[in-house]
Amino acid sequence: MSEILEPSGRTAVVTGAASGIGRSLALQMADAGAMLVITDINAEGLKAVAGELEAKGTKVFAPVVDMGDFAAVDAFAEKVISVAGDSLAFVFANAGIHGLTPAIDPDLEMFDKVIRINLMGPVHMCKAFVPRLMARGGPAQVVVTGSQASFLAAPGIAPYVAAKHGVWGFVDSLRIELLMAKSEVGVSVVAPSRVDTGITRQRLDEYRALGGEKAVQDYLASMAGADPIAEVILREAIKREFWIIPSHESTLDAFKSRAQAIIDAMPAGMIAG
Ligand SMILES: NC(=O)c1ccc[n+]([C@@H]2O[C@H](COP(=O)([O-])OP(=O)(O)OC[C@H]3O[C@@H](n4cnc5c(N)ncnc54)[C@H](O)[C@@H]3O)[C@@H](O)[C@H]2O)c1
Repeated sequence: MSEILEPSGRTAVVTGAASGIGRSLALQMADAGAMLVITDINAEGLKAVAGELEAKGTKVFAPVVDMGDFAAVDAFAEKVISVAGDSLAFVFANAGIHGLTPAIDPDLEMFDKVIRINLMGPVHMCKAFVPRLMARGGPAQVVVTGSQASFLAAPGIAPYVAAKHGVWGFVDSLRIELLMAKSEVGVSVVAPSRVDTGITRQRLDEYRALGGEKAVQDYLASMAGADPIAEVILREAIKREFWIIPSHESTLDAFKSRAQAIIDAMPAGMIAG
């Protein structure tokens, strides 16, 4: 998928656009000349971001849609495709929530909710948009937000890690099928390290309890802002890269250790004959 997809004059859909990375993506897409379809479950925040986009002179459609509800996502996709037609070129399935519960004895209600929004949300978006984009014809890029938790585990957020590992598996399977179908629809999976947004700020009390204000300050200092993360995502999405990994050196080291542990374990598991 080497062809560059220029945003100017094209339409981009961004889910979870009321705050954080989604808001930055929408504003930067607008600056690049795109028309925007933004959505979120937070009606008030969505309205505020729609106002910011309109103030830039950007054409925007901003309906509230719950990513956990396939019927709603499907109706949303039908409407977007019928209105945006050939101009629709980018779909950012970005919405997500945190899931603070331990793996040892997880809160099952929370587990279900995180899987429904963080894993099934992207599945709903891809099922609703990809076949319609293929039937329409022409190039488009569907960009799904995973996380560094798509390939690294962490304590205290088991459903989040499980959902984000699932996102990687699902989107990679979709990539292979689209390649086999010689489709002009491409997919990307985004795996950011820590970003200073509503999601990460939910953990401040936990860090305070563990190590006081110093732990809180260290945690905040370890995060990037949503704007530079969105810049990396857009730059790579336009190039239609599969992996988009806005990350720090420490993430690279952690991933090397994990990959090496798997490589090191394999000889012991080799099947004889
Ligand atoms: N912040 C980080 O450190 C980080 C790191 C890696 C990945 N991510 C991922 O980035 C994405 C964006 O998160 P963020 O960090 O900008 O946090 P955020 O909380 O600022 O934004 C997430 C948005 O998703 C919306 N949302 C939640 N549930 C929804 C639902 N059911 N339907 C529609 N919208 C819903 C929220 O209202 C919110 O506006 C998420 O998928 C998150 O998992 C974040």
